[in-house]
Amino acid sequence: MLNHEYDGIREYDNPIPAWWNWIFLGSFVFSVFYFVHYHMGNGVSVKDAYAVEMEAIEKVRAEEALAAAKNVSEEKLAGLMADPAAVAAGEAKFKTVCVACHGQKGEGLIGPNLTDAYWLHGDGSLMAIRDVVINGVVEKGMVAWGKTMPPDELNKVVAYVGTLRGKNEPGKEPQGEKHEVATN
Ligand code: HEC
Repeated sequence: MLNHEYDGIREYDNPIPAWWNWIFLGSFVFSVFYFVHYHMGNGVSVKDAYAVEMEAIEKVRAEEALAAAKNVSEEKLAGLMADPAAVAAGEAKFKTVCVACHGQKGEGLIGPNLTDAYWLHGDGSLMAIRDVVINGVVEKGMVAWGKTMPPDELNKVVAYVGTLRGKNEPGKEPQGEKHEVATN
């Protein structure tokens, strides 16, 4: 009991437990070190650490994309075209995402016929096809697939489109310029 009294009301003397005081004091001492380290010293904030990590991963991604781009050539794509497993994978992908506009056999629908010798974009080479597939012709409705499709999957689709050349499936009338491409 404390020794003051107000209209008969007395007050107990309940001291704060020692452990509570130690935690209070401890957090105060901690805050001093925290302040000195993060606000005056060289402590790295979570936000900065995140930025540094993101920068590193962007760099790795850019290097991978560059390596993937360097690894591709007309010969490499022709190699894929000669690989039945790669072509089958490309065909499966084509059947899911390209047929809506280019038709079941690539004979053309909204998009041009891919089986004739006429090309709106490029010379019908595998590298030219790959360019259109990556960058699209967005204003005409051809999707820029490079943004969503992983490079090796995309290359297989290109290899499959390569096998369509010269099949001359009846469908959409020729568009663009004629470029005969030797197909094997
Ligand atoms: C939403 C419709 C649409 C889809 C889906 C689509 N395309 Fe196209 N594509 C087009 C259109 C439209 C063009 C013609 C662009 C132009 O007129 O310049 C085109 C053009 C092309 C060309 C160039 C043809 C030429 O004559 O130069 C290639 C190659 C091609 N697409 C491949 C693909 C592949 C591979 C896929 C699937 C991964 C695909 N497209 C999916 C609409 C589409």
